Amino acid sequence: MHRVVDLKVLYFGTPVVLISTRNPDGTANLAPMSSAWWLDDQCMLGMNTGAQTTINLARERECVLNLPSADLVTAVDRLALLTGSPTLSPHKVNKGYRHEPDKFGAAGLTPVPSDLVAAPRVAECPIQLECELLSAAPFGIDTDAIAHTVRVVRAHVADDLVLPGTQYIDPVGWDPLIMKFCEFFGGGAQVHPSRLAEAWRMPHPEPSR
Ligand SMILES: Cc1cc2nc3c(=O)[nH]c(=O)nc-3n(C[C@H](O)[C@H](O)[C@H](O)COP(=O)(O)O)c2cc1C
Repeated sequence: MHRVVDLKVLYFGTPVVLISTRNPDGTANLAPMSSAWWLDDQCMLGMNTGAQTTINLARERECVLNLPSADLVTAVDRLALLTGSPTLSPHKVNKGYRHEPDKFGAAGLTPVPSDLVAAPRVAECPIQLECELLSAAPFGIDTDAIAHTVRVVRAHVADDLVLPGTQYIDPVGWDPLIMKFCEFFGGGAQVHPSRLAEAWRMPHPEPSR
């Protein structure tokens, strides 16, 4: 049996991306996002119009997509309610966000220079994709999101994730951090409490007796 449900959230499960961009003053911004999917050498990123990341992408036209493995969840969660923007929307204030100019420091992550773009990579992330912005357009109707299309111009992958003698990632060895309905998952299991889920007041199942 199925039932018709007016679903309030449609976040069925996508990989978390830590997107690094360069701020107007030359410092680095770092933001978690998960509305991301890849096709060929390109990626679609859905980002809110008010995010500092969106503003930086429009100006700099480049970024790094750092893919955290599930064991980096604590660092990702530390970034959940932070913004690089000094101006917060009423929505963000209401959800408990605050301005943080040093996102790398706040997360406890290490910036390392990129080869082809100005934004730094996240040393701890096993996969780091340097990207150029190809296009940015409003997403759908009645949303405040922008659909960014970026092209991967250089990929850095941890040695042990590259299948020996190939240019492919080991799909068994790669354990991406997944965001599912604002909760963090890795290897199919919930791995950490989520500040985002708390801010959104996401309902939880009753504990099994
Ligand atoms: C796991 C996770 C996934 C998120 N996914 C998205 C997303 O796909 N798009 C988006 O606009 N914001 C997303 N957010 C919220 C942004 O991280 C948030 O708006 C943040 O303040 C952006 O930082 P910035 O303003 O410094 O760019 C996500 C947050 C978390 C913790």
